[in-house]
Amino acid sequence: MNKNIGVLPGDGIGPEVVAEAVKVMNVIAKKFGHTFEYHYADVGAIAIDNTGDPLPSETLEVCLHADAFLFGAIGHPKYDNDPSAKVRPEQGLLRLRKELGLFANIRPVVAYDALLDLSPLKKERIQGVDLVMYRELTGGIYFGDKGRLNDGKSAYDTCLYHDYEIQRIVRLAFNAAQKRRKKVTLIDKANVLENSRLWREEFQKIAAEYPDIEVDYLFVDNAAMQMILWPKQFDVIVTGNMFGDIISDESSVIAGSLGLLPSASVGEKTAMFEPIHGSYPQAAGLNIANPMATILSAAMLLEHLDMVEEAAAIRVAVDKALREGYVTQDLNKEKYYSTSEVGDWIALKVKALEVSF
Ligand code: IPM
Ligand code: MG
Repeated sequence: MNKNIGVLPGDGIGPEVVAEAVKVMNVIAKKFGHTFEYHYADVGAIAIDNTGDPLPSETLEVCLHADAFLFGAIGHPKYDNDPSAKVRPEQGLLRLRKELGLFANIRPVVAYDALLDLSPLKKERIQGVDLVMYRELTGGIYFGDKGRLNDGKSAYDTCLYHDYEIQRIVRLAFNAAQKRRKKVTLIDKANVLENSRLWREEFQKIAAEYPDIEVDYLFVDNAAMQMILWPKQFDVIVTGNMFGDIISDESSVIAGSLGLLPSASVGEKTAMFEPIHGSYPQAAGLNIANPMATILSAAMLLEHLDMVEEAAAIRVAVDKALREGYVTQDLNKEKYYSTSEVGDWIALKVKALEVSF
């Protein structure tokens, strides 16, 4: 296959982890006879430094023309502690989601056997966890009307959802459940919020079309507790933008490290693949960050482009790296390797693997 891949390394550790994912994709291209043409572009703080805009129009063009694109991370401490900053790196990410119509953020969480002891949660609670979150990404309180009242001392953010925004993500969640363990849990706050009650109405209409799928409903406060108490109850979770942001970070504790979790944002125009961790500025340039979440995001990208065996090869290699201890220092404080060494090792394993799975 011939694919046009956008690459947006972003800020902090973004460029280092993205470089390892590209390294692995190059091995895949060679091994399976594909051509990947990469187009690099700036986003986030680096783009503000270079152009004044966290999402320059050239970057948007690169994404629009790509079959899919990889995204590293954005953010810089100089903006985090300045609530008055008008231009912020995060705006680049939010506009990217909105302008490309990336309405579904998909975050799989699995408990790797080799890492069970790293999680602060008890082993018996997390062993075997295999869930996927479907978080709505272009609506809700993130994008509703917001502002200050005239007195400047009062502020508001509106949470608005339209029925079609709910329907399209709920449908994706049900389709995913059909290929998995056939259960969908809706997380909302329908005992208090009107838009959560709309979520339930729309969810129930779609659920009626999928009689073989078991459904469950949890209020977000209870869901936060259940994620720690008994995460094995979850198969597919679907929820709105802000609840999804919070619960997905919480669920990452199950995997043992934030450095392991990939994500996909799919929708209307193209699809974006990124690690769920942030830009981790303290580690930038030190070659210590864990590249696995980005490498696994590249696997999701390939799968999205129908390269299923290629994606499986990457996952097998990452799993081997975890089991054989070729990991960065977040996963083993005594014996660890650098970002690029872990990337090299995974790339070599991918190269050596038998092609059929
Ligand atoms: C995420 C991040 C973003 C979000 C930030 C960086 C705007 O936390 O992708 O989960 O809140 O969506
Ligand atoms: Mg988040």
